[in-house]
Amino acid sequence: MAEGLAEAGANIAIFDMIQPDAAFSKLAKKYSVKTAFYKVDVTSTQDLRRGFEEFQRDFDSALDICVPCAGVNKNVTLLDTTPEDFERLVNVNVKGVYFTMQLAAQLMVKNKTIKGSIILVASIAASRAVRGQFSSAYCATKGAVRAMCPPSAVELAEHGIRVNTISPGYIKTEMTAPFPHLLESWKSEVMNNRIGMPDDIRGACIFLASDASSYMTGNDIAIDGGVLNW
Ligand SMILES: NC(=O)c1ccc[n+]([C@@H]2O[C@H](COP(=O)([O-])OP(=O)(O)OC[C@H]3O[C@@H](n4cnc5c(N)ncnc54)[C@H](O)[C@@H]3O)[C@@H](O)[C@H]2O)c1
Repeated sequence: MAEGLAEAGANIAIFDMIQPDAAFSKLAKKYSVKTAFYKVDVTSTQDLRRGFEEFQRDFDSALDICVPCAGVNKNVTLLDTTPEDFERLVNVNVKGVYFTMQLAAQLMVKNKTIKGSIILVASIAASRAVRGQFSSAYCATKGAVRAMCPPSAVELAEHGIRVNTISPGYIKTEMTAPFPHLLESWKSEVMNNRIGMPDDIRGACIFLASDASSYMTGNDIAIDGGVLNW
């Protein structure tokens, strides 16, 4: 998504606990944009606030697009999920996404951004069980991301900010690569019988970030190879 937005001309700031992969450091030169990485733990509102302050200083407060995307999963049954497991997933996937959206929206309102776009990363897990995984807590967090989108979109519409979700299907990333047997088995749920790659998500992100989607808010795009409809 960062590469897609950079290709379309956006300056990119990344918040994460870990350094982005090597490809990120090449984006600035490749697309003549400005890029920066901030080490931020999205579960801490204090850390998030610091991240936004540093961003404002470095990017002259210019924020029009925000993609709250941090997420974690744990393959654990409902019967065995501990309060600590549950809190970790909720803290990253729900609290982190919510307060990233809030701080981004506050900055956009302050800047009088009239074409703001917030793109929350939900999942097909918001509306179905993940086959082959124990996913009750993860699905609960993704359902929450999906559910926070329409009311946030209603409130932010008067400020010219749209809020939508992307719901990826089965995508090969750091999160899913450790489970090659699952990636293989999930293919049978996908209409075109292939697992998605991160590049498959970039088009939806650019669409939602741009004026091409100016009449779309409070809604979701599932990029899932047809899983939800099969
Ligand atoms: N891979 C899939 O099949 C799939 C499907 C649907 C939705 N998603 C969602 O897509 C998003 C991206 O996941 P991914 O598959 O690229 O996995 P990923 O593990 O590569 O990316 C998740 C990122 O979140 C970061 N992160 C975790 N905790 C954090 C914290 N406390 N503060 C800041 N950053 C933190 C991680 O360091 C990592 O870079 C997640 O929200 C995930 O739930 C993934």
